[in-house]
Amino acid sequence: MTVKKRLVSATSNEDEEVFEKSGKNSDGKKNEDTAVGTTVLNTKLRTIFKLFILGIVGPVILYTLYHLSSSLQKHFAKIEVKEVLIKDRKPIYWVYGRNPDSGYLKHVFALLDRLGFERGTNESDWDLLWAHDYPFRSLYSSLNALAPHQKVNHVPGCGYITNKVDLSTSELARHLPAAFKIPEDKKALLKYVADNPAKSFVQKSNAHRGIQILNVSDIDLASEGSFVQEFIENPFLVDGFKFDIGVYTVVTSVDPLRVYVYKGDILFRFCPVKYYPFDPENIDKYVVGDDYLPIWDVPSLKNYYANLGFSMKDSFDSYVRAQGKDPQKVWDNVNDAIRDVILSKESLIKDVVKRFKNQHNFFEMMRFDFAIDDELNVFVMEANMSPNLSSAHYPPNQLLYEQVLFNLFGLVGIGQRVRKESLRIRNQKEEEMQVADKNLVVLPEVCAKCDDCFRVECQLCKPCFTDETRHILSTSYREHQNAMDFQRIFPPPITKTMVLKDYTLKNQLLVRWYQGKCELDPTWCG
Ligand SMILES: *[C@@H]1O[C@H](CO)[C@@H](O)[C@H](O)[C@H]1NC(C)=O
Ligand SMILES: *[C@@H]1O[C@H](CO)[C@@H](O)[C@H](O)[C@H]1NC(C)=O
Ligand SMILES: *[C@@H]1O[C@H](CO)[C@@H](O)[C@H](O)[C@H]1NC(C)=O
Repeated sequence: MTVKKRLVSATSNEDEEVFEKSGKNSDGKKNEDTAVGTTVLNTKLRTIFKLFILGIVGPVILYTLYHLSSSLQKHFAKIEVKEVLIKDRKPIYWVYGRNPDSGYLKHVFALLDRLGFERGTNESDWDLLWAHDYPFRSLYSSLNALAPHQKVNHVPGCGYITNKVDLSTSELARHLPAAFKIPEDKKALLKYVADNPAKSFVQKSNAHRGIQILNVSDIDLASEGSFVQEFIENPFLVDGFKFDIGVYTVVTSVDPLRVYVYKGDILFRFCPVKYYPFDPENIDKYVVGDDYLPIWDVPSLKNYYANLGFSMKDSFDSYVRAQGKDPQKVWDNVNDAIRDVILSKESLIKDVVKRFKNQHNFFEMMRFDFAIDDELNVFVMEANMSPNLSSAHYPPNQLLYEQVLFNLFGLVGIGQRVRKESLRIRNQKEEEMQVADKNLVVLPEVCAKCDDCFRVECQLCKPCFTDETRHILSTSYREHQNAMDFQRIFPPPITKTMVLKDYTLKNQLLVRWYQGKCELDPTWCG
């Protein structure tokens, strides 16, 4: 209607003009009737013509304008949507495990939220999978086809370490109490018992935690999937209480191997009942259960921990020094023990990892639990694949768990230093800013003399870098820069006397690289 009206009024304006003109004409030439008649005819024709043109062209122009404006609108709408998507996109994690929302992953969720992640599902374009349960069997098809930036918090094959029977019966590892698989090692067990009549034993299985001390006559020598382990007598006691310690350990790569332990703190858990007078019937004297005695209830440690504010580890160290002993022995032995266990399983784990197309997506955080005897020898009790990070029962542990997670996410590159919408590589310059070839090259004298890449060391020279070498060295470099309170224990600290021949070739090359970094900058030697 409005359009029509406007058209009508436009026509009438024209008419007025025509009238004015004709009026002028008529004013000037009143008697020239024919002339006036032609003019009127002309004017009518022109008006019809104009009406015709307007009738056709007007709608065409209007239609074009409408079309133009709507397509512009669409265009801008698209740009806006794109901007909104980029602005809102956050790195995504999803969670795999039973009842993940029942509370035990609360601190994991909190940490990821603080690092700018948001939770998605298995259907999301995810950056991190946080699996509480071992994911590689049930999710094989999706975990076998990972994009390079996708991270998974487990390593395929880590069960060789975290499975109790496999761990306890590892060969070639020091710091493991004698253990015998039942029924396979029955003969060896009986011989060991005959040779060591004073020792006591515990029988354990993958399904059950360390359980009661048994007389050899009471051991069930037919129980499949269990093992019998020597019981560590003469434990180191604090205020009469036996305890165990939990060391958070991270494997960031299997081939070559890189292992870190968290030195920011150690979890100390005490038995709720004093060890002496000893009574094998009372497991609260020698087994650490869910209702353990926390460090802030142990009189000699309470002052350091609660009043003076020290960590559990530093509180214990002060106590040990006050007894005239050197706690460093414990920590050196702990590092040796973890290194030994993981090296003894290295080739088995490597074989499992090889079944996955992309082998750089995996990391593993375990908690190694140790018992300590009165001479400060340490004994590996178990390694937990998904250590309990719930502070529901002991709220003061929240800080420990959050710091462990914060340091872990930093170490493996999930807590990024550059703000990004995903863990994907965004552009090459940004990557180089974080680690460039000049950060990776070592051994200047050797490299200056390399004519080809056949000599092993020459593979560490820039002209011989392969994509694989560059990837391994870049990741090692970044881990060193982001380690915070994690300490690398493999490759071990660089010393003049270190022996490399027992390591795989890839491990030897990586150790050589750390040696090279250490020669250029002593802060890399530790
Ligand atoms: C995600 O999980 C659901 C339910 O477990 C399953 O049906 C679906 O196939 C999964 N999707 C992908 C992409 O793996
Ligand atoms: C083991 O046997 C001895 C005697 O043979 C007995 O005194 C002791 O209480 C037994 N210990 C357990 C844990 O059954
Ligand atoms: C984890 O620790 C909490 C106490 O902080 C306890 O209630 C829970 O049972 C533990 N979970 C497991 C699987 O050990």
